[in-house]
Amino acid sequence: ATSRYEAESAPAVCGGAVASNHSGFSGSGFCDSSNAVGSAVTFTVNATAAGTATLAFRYANGSGTNRPADVSVNGSVVQAASAFAATSSWSTWATKSLTVQLNAGSNTVRLAATTAAGLGNIDYLEVTTGDPGSDTIM
Ligand code: GCU
Repeated sequence: ATSRYEAESAPAVCGGAVASNHSGFSGSGFCDSSNAVGSAVTFTVNATAAGTATLAFRYANGSGTNRPADVSVNGSVVQAASAFAATSSWSTWATKSLTVQLNAGSNTVRLAATTAAGLGNIDYLEVTTGDPGSDTIM
């Protein structure tokens, strides 16, 4: 099943401003993180069972250059300085996916910027697990 977790609303924590000034986002807006090393978006996601899951981050990056981020799961970096490549504008959204291991129950997924430019604008995280339950697109 796939669950969507918006970056602009709880349980996510946006280390910056919730914004809606670029079109095409899901939900009520997106997280425009601070332009600083270490600025972050933290998601709390649930898995019914431990195992492999796909994380898909929807983002926009109209800056013209990568906005790299360390991707962490439950406090461990699982992909360092992941590029989050430029998209053609701030209203052009792309998806970046990776496969991770989740624990049963609550998990913390965090993006933390590795450059002074901060993160791209983050719309949501979708988590897909092998759980056959129904999809949750919040
Ligand atoms: C622009 C853009 C923001 C973006 C910012 C940035 O100001 O409008 O949405 O977050 O650039 O460089 O991070």
